[in-house]
Amino acid sequence: MSRFAYVNGAYVRHSDASVHIEDRGFQFGDSVYEVVYLYQGKLIDAEPHLDRMERSLDELQMDMPMSRKAMGLIMKELIKRNRLKTGLVYIQVTRGSATRDFPFPSACDQTMVMTTRRMPAFDPDKALKPLKVKSLPDIRWSRCDIKTTQLLAAALSKQTALDDGYDDAWLVDEAGFVTEGTSNNAWIVTKDGKLKTRKPSHEILNGITRQSIITLATEKGIEIIEEAFTLEEALEAKEAFVTSASACLKPVTQINEHTIGNGNVGIISEQIARIYANFLKG
Ligand code: PDD
Repeated sequence: MSRFAYVNGAYVRHSDASVHIEDRGFQFGDSVYEVVYLYQGKLIDAEPHLDRMERSLDELQMDMPMSRKAMGLIMKELIKRNRLKTGLVYIQVTRGSATRDFPFPSACDQTMVMTTRRMPAFDPDKALKPLKVKSLPDIRWSRCDIKTTQLLAAALSKQTALDDGYDDAWLVDEAGFVTEGTSNNAWIVTKDGKLKTRKPSHEILNGITRQSIITLATEKGIEIIEEAFTLEEALEAKEAFVTSASACLKPVTQINEHTIGNGNVGIISEQIARIYANFLKG
């Protein structure tokens, strides 16, 4: 566990860190978060993550709790105090604490918490551990584009998948299209060789890793189609993988009882993983 957390202006021992029981993040899930990957001392895509945080907050009628510069300084200070080289930085911002009532309180100070977590560095030579995923109905709300801390549907789905012997769930909408993983974006290489991931909408979180990979792969001449795919298409796919700040890229070699491709990590998945690893190193 990390030694320090940042809570509302102070760096406190992680074990002593707390927020008020009336905090609306706790009472209502009235809060947003971001997860930024720190790779060998470098924060990856910090600006796009903060852009998305600002957008999420704005959708919930909240402001950024402080300037970008101040947030950046706090992230760096926390990383330093926790002697973190590679891992994750979590930022949670809530509307603040007020007497429990559904309408937004007229005045309350936002809560901001930052924590870190150590993780091994992403290395496609050794870290491409394949995942088995289970398809489950997407029972989340209709604004999955907002990165709120209301993660119960995701937690329930992930737990169901684990209980059934899988590593994660792929969520499927009412029309039979895959939305995303419980905490990652879903990708496939179709049986006719097309690399597909769902287009940003209210139904998915527009992953920062997803966006970086689209840019990097497109620069290398790899065509990516931003289009929803059905569960059937995924079951017949040549390859499948997920992307997120915490996973970077993880291949998916099994969906339900179906083996994807020949059951090994696919050529395109590996190529994209190497492109992303070079970006991290660069
Ligand atoms: N999860 N979709 C969902 C539902 C997510 O929770 C995440 C991120 C992503 C990928 O987004 P990004 O590439 O920006 O990390 C997609 C983070 C890592 C988490 O909750 O831990």
